[in-house]
Amino acid sequence: MKVLANDGISQSGVDALKAAGFEIITTKVAQEQLENYINENQIDALLVRSATKVRKELIDACPSLKLIGRGGVGMDNIDVQYAKDKGLSVINTPASSSASVAELVFAHLYGGVRFLYDANRNMPLEGESKFGDLKKAYAKGVELRGKTLGVIGFGRIGQATAKVALGAGMKVIYSDPYMEKAEVKLDFFDGQEVTFKFESKSKEDVLKEADFITLHVPAQKEYVIGKAELEMMKDGAALINAARGGVIDEIALIDALDSGKLAFAGLDVFESEPKPEIRILMHPKITLSPHIGAATNEAQDRIGTELAEQIDSILNK
Ligand SMILES: NC(=O)c1ccc[n+]([C@@H]2O[C@H](COP(=O)([O-])OP(=O)(O)OC[C@H]3O[C@@H](n4cnc5c(N)ncnc54)[C@H](O)[C@@H]3O)[C@@H](O)[C@H]2O)c1
Repeated sequence: MKVLANDGISQSGVDALKAAGFEIITTKVAQEQLENYINENQIDALLVRSATKVRKELIDACPSLKLIGRGGVGMDNIDVQYAKDKGLSVINTPASSSASVAELVFAHLYGGVRFLYDANRNMPLEGESKFGDLKKAYAKGVELRGKTLGVIGFGRIGQATAKVALGAGMKVIYSDPYMEKAEVKLDFFDGQEVTFKFESKSKEDVLKEADFITLHVPAQKEYVIGKAELEMMKDGAALINAARGGVIDEIALIDALDSGKLAFAGLDVFESEPKPEIRILMHPKITLSPHIGAATNEAQDRIGTELAEQIDSILNK
């Protein structure tokens, strides 16, 4: 059977699929040529990440397809229910990238509280001529230890982020209307484990009490953080979004940064992705990354092998 991994797959995934007897093709086929390619090569399984779209028309036009796999979490690029109704299996790997996204949140947080994002812009330009001025400009950093992290959306990534925060000595509070209570277990390198119990608070309470807010909700119709929510946050707080573009009102965010209400923001995802607004990209108080939350070798390895295991058990049964 043939598997087309159109948005790439880790070597570990390729190896696992080959070992299970699949022919794996990693050619990147352009969206408009996908239908032809799948039909000519009689592809059984199509694997995508977020780039390739698998819409009704493609599903209808490609009768050889038996399975659609998404390496990662969000399946906004796949007509999931339609595919299932037509008898196709649709799979993803929801847990494989949680720890990587959580670490990226902390890369933004630690970078933010010590102005690293701005220092990295200015040191190459003025580090030699104005070292003392820059040293003074970035002198008022703060520690994360002892501060409160407010997590909005306490699913897999929200909880993985809580684990990093707890390890860093932070207090954690969360708001998730669909998860009233949660237990988060921290495993340490020497086998020790500690379990923390949490109860959801209202979004308002989390916004008011937290020093830093991080979002881990799925894509939704309304903004989760708009002007009203930003106003509720503590003065000098910071906001991180490694969830989905469109859960924060970017215009309101820029206003909150310009007025000094927020100290900084960290964005891995953008409303107008893949062409983020220039005002966001150029803003001196935003630490930026180009949607790389899940882009670690470890997460990609886990994604590849998890996909391979699922494909093997579904198509080889
Ligand atoms: N930056 C990246 O590269 C990257 C990588 C993977 C996932 N993500 C994104 O991270 C987000 C979270 O992923 P996950 O695996 O933790 O999902 P998940 O389904 O495990 O958790 C999401 C949680 O959000 C809660 N929720 C939904 N609407 C809410 C609201 N309005 N307010 C508060 N809570 C709400 C749900 O109850 C759920 O517990 C998704 O948007 C996903 O697309 C980003």
